[in-house]
Amino acid sequence: MQNFKPTRRSILAGAGASALAWRAGFAQTAPVVLTAQRASVQIAPKGYPQTEVWAYDGALPGPQLRVPQGARLRRRFVNKLDVASSIHWHGIRIDNAMDGVAGLTQDAVPPGNSFDYDFTLPDAGSYWYHAHTNSMEQVARGLSGPLIVEEPEALDVDRDEVLMLDDWLLNPETAQIDPDFSQPMDLSHGGRLGNLIGTNGRFNHRLAVKRHERLRLRLINAANARIFVLRLVGVSGWQVALDGMPLPTPQPVAQELILAPAQRIDLIVDVMAEGAQAAIERLGNDDQWHAQIGFEIAGQASRARRDPPSALPPNPRMDLPDLAQARQLEMKIEGGAMGRMAMGQMRSLMQSGKFWTLGGQAGPGEAPFARLSRGEPVRLRLLNDTAFPHAMHLHGMHFREVLPEGRFGPMRDTILTMAGQSQEIAFIADNPGKWLLHCHMLAHAAAGMTRWIEVA
Ligand code: C2O
Ligand code: CU
Repeated sequence: MQNFKPTRRSILAGAGASALAWRAGFAQTAPVVLTAQRASVQIAPKGYPQTEVWAYDGALPGPQLRVPQGARLRRRFVNKLDVASSIHWHGIRIDNAMDGVAGLTQDAVPPGNSFDYDFTLPDAGSYWYHAHTNSMEQVARGLSGPLIVEEPEALDVDRDEVLMLDDWLLNPETAQIDPDFSQPMDLSHGGRLGNLIGTNGRFNHRLAVKRHERLRLRLINAANARIFVLRLVGVSGWQVALDGMPLPTPQPVAQELILAPAQRIDLIVDVMAEGAQAAIERLGNDDQWHAQIGFEIAGQASRARRDPPSALPPNPRMDLPDLAQARQLEMKIEGGAMGRMAMGQMRSLMQSGKFWTLGGQAGPGEAPFARLSRGEPVRLRLLNDTAFPHAMHLHGMHFREVLPEGRFGPMRDTILTMAGQSQEIAFIADNPGKWLLHCHMLAHAAAGMTRWIEVA
């Protein structure tokens, strides 16, 4: 970092111009830049060409941003693409003006222009950032990266690893991203699924570890539509946070983990395997388990297996919504292929280029789905009357699922609702502004599954 203190020599040199330059430098340190640009990355196996992507700072995933809890994040977003773009900071309880939703919270940043993001991070945890202008295409082309907010005290782990799970739809010969983003099949069915699945921008992510090492793993699903079903092999441990938010008690991982698009799971795991292969495996469409992340075990950590981890420190403002006082809302999810929407209605929907409706409307429109007063408790019933699962995401505020007998599920920002299922979520509308509520299967969001609420 440059030191802006005037030296004796600069004072003696004393020219007006240099004194002015010094003042300017002192008043404003240069902003840190995050650039969206084209880049070539080796996503596919060796022997295949590199893939042309759109990426932050030319890296896939984008640079890992790490900020201490309570600190400010300042980034000048510079758009070097030839299309307009903007950045959304997924899961952050953020100042609305910084939420990055083109057309709702800001104008999209035109090619060659920039936008200064500047906000505080109230909550520790695993988050991510991604394009929120034509996100179905821009995220699929590579515009996403991890955003890690660190707890004030370091955890008792040997390593902290971010694992960003993704898939890409590539031409099998050229390894280039399939440029057809308006496939009716993707839009009306399960969304755009990739044919190459990987982690941290590579198809075969390997992690070198030691036996008995304790790792914190931050799993982030950055895929457009893929739901990852995962199991641990040769490592065992606990879930400690979901969608960034700490669980009140660590949950031993007994079964499969389900990670819907945009969701995160924080794990603390111990490497148990000896010589044998350890991995995080993924259930494929062929009902077979495939290695998603391979662990290569070399050597042994100095400490043998430890006691179970304690819970992560809670984040602020985690009050439970008062269900008895809460405003009740209902949002029907309808449309799509093989659904129960009447033929005539479906046809007119498709004439407008849409396939789905949320609360009877396709797309964000001019008016909010609901106007809420600041501090109001809300319960929102989501009725999935379609033949597909959807990953419903609310911007700006975390919510809890309302379980039977009025119990609450963990805090989340994205909830997977299965075909034909009805779920209720509840939250306190404590963050003023205009907040999107949409499906994070990004083709669905583009084809109608996007609404917004206003908190004032
Ligand atoms: Cu992860 Cu509306 O976004
Ligand atoms: Cu959906």
